[in-house]
Amino acid sequence: MKKEDKKIILAFETSCDDTSIAIFEDDKLLFMDTASQIKIHNITGGVVPEVAAREHANAIFWVLENVLTETNLKLENIDYIWVTTSPWLLPSLLTWTTVASTISTVLQIPIIPINHIQAHVFSNFLERKEEDIKFPLICLTVSGGHNDIYSMKDIWDLEKVGSTTDDSSGEAFDKVAKMMWLEYPGGPIISKLAESHPQPIPCKEGSKPLFPRVWLVKKEADFSFSGLKSAVKREVDKRTNRWEKELTLEDKIEISYEFQEAVIEVLAYKLVQVALQNWVKNVMLAWGVSANNRLKEEITRLAKKNNLEFIFPVSNLYCMDNAAMVWILTYYKIKYWEFEKKIWVVKL
Ligand code: KG4
Ligand code: ZN
Repeated sequence: MKKEDKKIILAFETSCDDTSIAIFEDDKLLFMDTASQIKIHNITGGVVPEVAAREHANAIFWVLENVLTETNLKLENIDYIWVTTSPWLLPSLLTWTTVASTISTVLQIPIIPINHIQAHVFSNFLERKEEDIKFPLICLTVSGGHNDIYSMKDIWDLEKVGSTTDDSSGEAFDKVAKMMWLEYPGGPIISKLAESHPQPIPCKEGSKPLFPRVWLVKKEADFSFSGLKSAVKREVDKRTNRWEKELTLEDKIEISYEFQEAVIEVLAYKLVQVALQNWVKNVMLAWGVSANNRLKEEITRLAKKNNLEFIFPVSNLYCMDNAAMVWILTYYKIKYWEFEKKIWVVKL
C-alpha cells in the first residue's frame, strides 16, 4: 500500500536485451524484476534488434505485473515514471516508449527520460554515499557496444575524451568467444577460462605475449580492438588447421588468457594515463566489462602505484542493465533539480 507522504517511482530499463522494471519508495528499492534474453541471443551469438524488441513485447507486461504484485501497488499509486530513452537499439526502446507513454498519458503520471550511458556511470553511486565519489574523475565505460573514456569535473559534467575507433572491448570478448564456439555473452566465459590458466598474473617479465597490445598512440585516450580480434582468428585457424580439428580445452584456456591480458593491459593503462595527464586523482569504471575481475585487479594495481583512488560498481549486478541504475540517476536528479509535475514529451 502507498504511504501518503512517500513518492512512488516506477523505473523502466529495456533499452537493449534486458527487460528490467523496478519500483522505489523515495530512495528505497521496493522490488526489481529483470527478464534476461541471454538464452535467445545465444543462438545468434549476439543481439538481433528485431528479436530483442519482440522479446521485450512478450516480457514487459508480466514483469510489470510481477513488480506491482510484489509491492502490493497499483499503477494509480505511481507518482513518477523514469525510463531510458537514449542511446541504444531503437526497436527495443520503441517497446517501452509505447507502454510507458501510454501509462503516463492515461494516468497523467510525469515521465522523465534517462540517458543510458549516464545511468551506467551512476551505477557507481548504488550502495555508496554521495561523498564516496570524489570529483574531478576520469571514468572508463566498457560494454558490448561502447568503449569510451569520460572526464567528469562534477556530478553532472560528462565529457567524452576518448573512444574506440572500431569495436568495443565487450564486443571483442563476445566475438573471440564465438570464434572458439563458446556461448554468448563471451566476457564471463573467457574470463573464467583465463582464471584457470597456469601462468601467474601478471605475465612473467620477459615472456613474449601471444597477442599484440594495440595502443594506437600510447598516450592518447582512443582504442582499437578489431586488429586484436583478427590476431586471435589467425591463432585459432592455425591451431585448428582451419577447423580440420577442434580446439582443445588447453588451447581455449591459453587463448582466453592471452586475449584477456591484451585487452586489459591497454584499458587499464589508458584510464590511469588520462587521469595522470589531467592531474586527476580519481578513476572510475562502469558497464558490462567492469564485471571482469582481472580488469579491476589491474586498474587497482596501477591506481595504487600512482596514488589514485579507484571506484567500481559494488556488485556485478550493477554492471549489466538494471533498473536500479536508472533509479539512482533520477534520485540524484530529484535531489539536485526541481522537476515540475508535467508530462514530458519523449523524443527518441
Ligand atoms: O550488454 P552490454 O553491452 O551492456 C549493457 O548491459 O548495456 O554489456 C555486456 C558486455 C558483453 O559484451 C559481455 O561479454 C561483457 O559485457 N562482459 C564481460 C564480463 N561480463 C560481461 N566482459 C569481460 N569479462 C566479464 N567478466
Ligand atoms: Zn546497458
